[in-house]
Amino acid sequence: MRDTPEELLPFNDPRYIAEPYACWARLRDEAPVYWCRAMDFWAVTRYDDVVEVLHDPARFSSQGGPTGRQRGSVLPRLPLLQDDPPHHDRLRRILSRAFTPKTTSQREHRVREIAEELAADLRRRLAAGENVDLVRGFTSPLPVSVIAEILGIPSELEDRLRMWNATTSVTGAVELEAAHRPETMREMYETLAELLEERRRDRRADLFSALIEASESDESPLRPDELVGLCQLLWNAGNETTTNLLSNAALVLQERPDLLETVRRQPGKVPAMVDEFLRLHSPINCLARTASEDLELQGQKIRKDDVLMVIFAAANRDPRHFERADEFDPERRANDHVAFSHGIHFCLGSHLARLEARVGLEVLGELLPQVRIRTDRGARIPTALLRGWLTLPLEPARGASSAGRA
Ligand code: HEM
Repeated sequence: MRDTPEELLPFNDPRYIAEPYACWARLRDEAPVYWCRAMDFWAVTRYDDVVEVLHDPARFSSQGGPTGRQRGSVLPRLPLLQDDPPHHDRLRRILSRAFTPKTTSQREHRVREIAEELAADLRRRLAAGENVDLVRGFTSPLPVSVIAEILGIPSELEDRLRMWNATTSVTGAVELEAAHRPETMREMYETLAELLEERRRDRRADLFSALIEASESDESPLRPDELVGLCQLLWNAGNETTTNLLSNAALVLQERPDLLETVRRQPGKVPAMVDEFLRLHSPINCLARTASEDLELQGQKIRKDDVLMVIFAAANRDPRHFERADEFDPERRANDHVAFSHGIHFCLGSHLARLEARVGLEVLGELLPQVRIRTDRGARIPTALLRGWLTLPLEPARGASSAGRA
C-alpha cells in the first residue's frame, strides 16, 4: 500500500540513525514490506523476506548500487557488487580464485603484528597526554594496512591510501565535498593501474599478481579496467565495514565487562562472539535492490524499477528467526545472520573480516581496560546505510597505571 498514513521509517533522522531498533520491530510486525514515501523505496525488514530478495537476482537487481539510484550519486560504481548475472558470475569466478580463505589465513601473524603496533602507539600517545582516537588510531588503520599488504601496495603510498579511504567510502561521500571526489578517484584508479601493469611484468606473492594470473587462465580474461575496478572494490568493500565492526564491538565490550573478560580469558570463544557482533551490530544496515519486473512481496504490489531497501540489520534481530533476538549470546549456535548478505553477492571477504575482527578484538581486550571510550565526544557515521563511528576519542581509564606501557 503506497498511501501510508504515518511515516514509520524516519530514515535520515539522527535519532533513527542512533537507535533504529524500535522502528525495525514495528515495521517487522506491522508493515514488513513498507513503502517509505519520503525515501521513495520499499523497506524489507523480516528475515525470510530479506533472504528471498537476496536469493533472486533475476527479479531483484543490484545495478542501482547501495542506494538503488546510482545515477547522480557521488558514490563510485562498484563492479561485481553492482553487477547481475551473467557478468557478475564471471568477475566473481576470477576474483574468488585469487582471493581465497587460504591466502587470508596465512596472514594472521601480520594482522596481529599490525594490531599490536597500533595499540602500542595509542598507549604511548595517551601516556604523552596527546589526543587519541580509537577509530583513527586503531579500527580504521588496521583493515587499511592489512588489505594494502595483501594487495601489494607499497608502504610509501600509505598517506595516499588514507586519502583514498576517506574519499571512496560511503562516509567520505557524506562527509567530503563531492567536488574533490572525481580527482581522488582518478588518482586512485591511475595508481592501481600502474601497480597492476608493474605486476604483469614482475609477479610477486601478492593479490595483484594472483588476480592477473586468475584472469589470464580464465576462458574470458578481464580487461585492464575491470582488473583495476576489482582492486578498487576490494579497497572499498573491506575497510569501512571492518572498521565499523571493530568500533561497534569495542563499545559493547566497554559496557559489558563480562564479555570483555571472556575475550581476554577465553580466546576460543571470540570467533562466535564476532558473529554475534555482526548479527546485533551489523556494520552495513541495509543495501538496495531494484525490481526488474512487476511483482508481489508480502501482499504488496511492487512495480518494475521500484527500489527495495533490504535492511539486513533488521532481519538479524527478527524474533521469527532468532531466539532472544535482541540479546547478545556469546554461545549462540548456528548463527545464520545476513550481515555478510546471502546468495550470489555473499561477502567475498568474510574470511578476512572475521580474521581481522578476531585478532583485533583480542588485542583490544588488552587495551580496553586501560582506556575509556568517550562516545559523548565521538561522532556517528551520519548515514542510515551504515552503523559505525567517525571518531571515538579515548582517555586513560581512571586508575589505569599501565596506560603508558607499550
Ligand atoms: C565486517 C566486515 C564486512 C561486512 C559486514 C561486509 C558485508 C558485505 C555485504 C553485506 C556484501 C553483499 C552486498 C550485497 O548483497 O549487495 C558484501 C560483498 C562483498 N564484500 Fe564484504 N563485508 C565486510 C568485509 C569485507 C572485506 C574485508 C572484503 C575484502 C577485502 C570484502 C569484500 C567484498 C566483496 C568483493 C563483495 C562483493 C561480492 C559480490 O558482489 O559478489 N568485504 N560484503
